[in-house]
Amino acid sequence: MLHPENASPAVDEELRHGPTGTLTRPAGAAELAAVNELHSRCSQGSLYKRYLGTRTGLTPGEWHHMTNGGTALTWVTYSPESPEHVIAVLQLVGSSGGDSADLGLLIEDPWQNRRLGTALLRHARTQGLRIGATAITGTVDRQNTAMLHLLKGLGASLSFGGGSVIDAVLALPTIDDRLVPAQRERHPGSVGMEPAGYLPRC
Ligand SMILES: CC(C)(COP(=O)(O)OP(=O)(O)OC[C@H]1O[C@@H](n2cnc3c(N)ncnc32)[C@H](O)[C@@H]1OP(=O)(O)O)[C@@H](O)C(=O)NCCC(=O)NCCS
Repeated sequence: MLHPENASPAVDEELRHGPTGTLTRPAGAAELAAVNELHSRCSQGSLYKRYLGTRTGLTPGEWHHMTNGGTALTWVTYSPESPEHVIAVLQLVGSSGGDSADLGLLIEDPWQNRRLGTALLRHARTQGLRIGATAITGTVDRQNTAMLHLLKGLGASLSFGGGSVIDAVLALPTIDDRLVPAQRERHPGSVGMEPAGYLPRC
């Protein structure tokens, strides 16, 4: 069996995260309200860590850019019991002609610290090539221990970004990396996203 990170699930496939029982799928253009409701339920601390400012949601223009199939990819996560209740949003925003994509990740407070962020970032890493990215970049508050720990654990390089932020660069697997699944089958213990038809990991 392929390691989930190298399985390249179909673009519209739902992915199950075993430890939380949540499902993640590409976001739809009509889901801005649900995503902004997620923002309204998040603590100020979580919103600050996500945006490094006082933002409380996304504008219709931003959401259109993130979901119109151009240089951005966006996913929403929800619990199967409440499909309309978005509990996390993940974005990769590339630039035309650029080779990196900016990461955006926000998980509702009660769902944090349950390895969902790790699984979502791993998923993003498998998908960035679709928008021509060879690396994922992020600007992280230096007190955001969870995010820094997560990025470091996935092999990102971290550098002082000035003021109170750390710049992170996470290289994406190359085509060559993705052609050697046998090697990864020898390291099956990582937490990832699995196609929803698979048994969840615990
Ligand atoms: C940051 C965030 C995405 C991390 O996702 P998460 O699901 O909470 O994190 P995980 O459970 O996958 O944990 C990642 C790692 O950080 C560690 N960790 C989690 N919370 C921690 C905390 N408060 N302090 C120290 N380490 C922490 C975990 O133990 C785990 O390490 P491990 O793999 O060695 O066990 C999520 O908490 C979030 O949305 N926060 C608010 C918005 C934000 O910060 N976005 C990122 C902006 S760049």
